[in-house]
Amino acid sequence: MGSLAPRPAPTHVIAHLSDPHLIAGDRLLCGYIDTATQLRQALSRVEESEEAIDAIVISGDLTDSADPAAYAMLLEITRPVADRLGAALVTTGGNHDERRPLAATFYGLDTDAPQDRVTDLRGLRVITLDSAVPGYHHGGFSDAQYDWLTDELATLAACGTILVMHHPPITYRSPTMAMLDFDDPARLRDILVGSDVRAILSGHLHVTTFGTLGGIPVIVAGGVSYVDDVGAPRELMIGVDGPQSWNLVELHSARGSERVGEVVTSVAPVARHPSWPALSDAVRDYLSTVPPDERQEVFSRKRS
Ligand SMILES: [Fe+2]
Ligand SMILES: [Fe+2]
Repeated sequence: MGSLAPRPAPTHVIAHLSDPHLIAGDRLLCGYIDTATQLRQALSRVEESEEAIDAIVISGDLTDSADPAAYAMLLEITRPVADRLGAALVTTGGNHDERRPLAATFYGLDTDAPQDRVTDLRGLRVITLDSAVPGYHHGGFSDAQYDWLTDELATLAACGTILVMHHPPITYRSPTMAMLDFDDPARLRDILVGSDVRAILSGHLHVTTFGTLGGIPVIVAGGVSYVDDVGAPRELMIGVDGPQSWNLVELHSARGSERVGEVVTSVAPVARHPSWPALSDAVRDYLSTVPPDERQEVFSRKRS
C-alpha cells in the first residue's frame, strides 16, 4: 500500500489557452467558428473549475488577422475574467498577430519590437518570448531575443521559470506544419539546458501534444478556436470544430530528493458535453467522515 498522506496542493496553477484567432465582427473563422464565443466558453470553463488560477496564459495567434478591434476584443473578454480570478493575464504573439497593433492595444506602445516580457507569479517566473518572424508564418528568435533570454535566465527564480512561445520547438508529424516550424530548436535547447526553465508552453499546431526539448517538457495547448484532425493522414490539414481544449497546468514544489517539482498538465474541453455525477453526494459525504489515512483502503478496495 502506498503513501496515504493527503496530496499537497500545487504551488502555482496556470490556465493555458492558445490560438483564439479572434475575429471582430460577424465573420466566422474558416466559415465555421465563432471565435469570440469559443474564447468566452473556454474562459467560463476556467472559472467553473474553481481552481486557484495564478495566470491565464494565451500562447499566441491571439487574433486571426491582427485587426486592432480584435485585440481590443481580446482584452474586453479576458481582463474581467482574470480580475475575478485574481490572475495575471499573460499573452504572447503568434504568426497571425502583428507586433504594432498588439503593442498598441496591450501596452500603449507604438513599436514593431517583439513584446517579450517577464511576469512574476509569487516566485514563479513566466517569460513570454514572441516567436513570430515578421513577414512569415514560421517561427524563430532574433539574436537580440536569444541574448535577452540568456541574460534573463542567468538569474534563477525562486520557483523556476515557465517559457511561453507560440511556435513549439518540437518535431510534429505534419509535413505542412514543418514548413511553419520554429527554426532553431538546437540553439534554444543549448540556452535552456541547465537553466531553471521547468516547462515550455506553446500553441500553433492546433493539436494538444507534448514533447521535450533537452529534457524540458514542451506542452502544446490544442487551441480554443479549432483543432487539426490528428486522425487524418499526416499530409492533410483538416480543421475540426469539436475537440477544442485548454490546459490546466499545475506546478508542485520539489519533494524528497527531487531537484524541481512536478509539472502536471490536464486537458480540459472547451465544449460542454453530457455529464453526470460519477461520485454521488452520498459517497462524497461519507468519504468526508473517513480519516484521510483510511480513505485509500475504504475507496480503493474492490467489493465482491
Ligand atoms: Fe493558430
Ligand atoms: Fe500559429
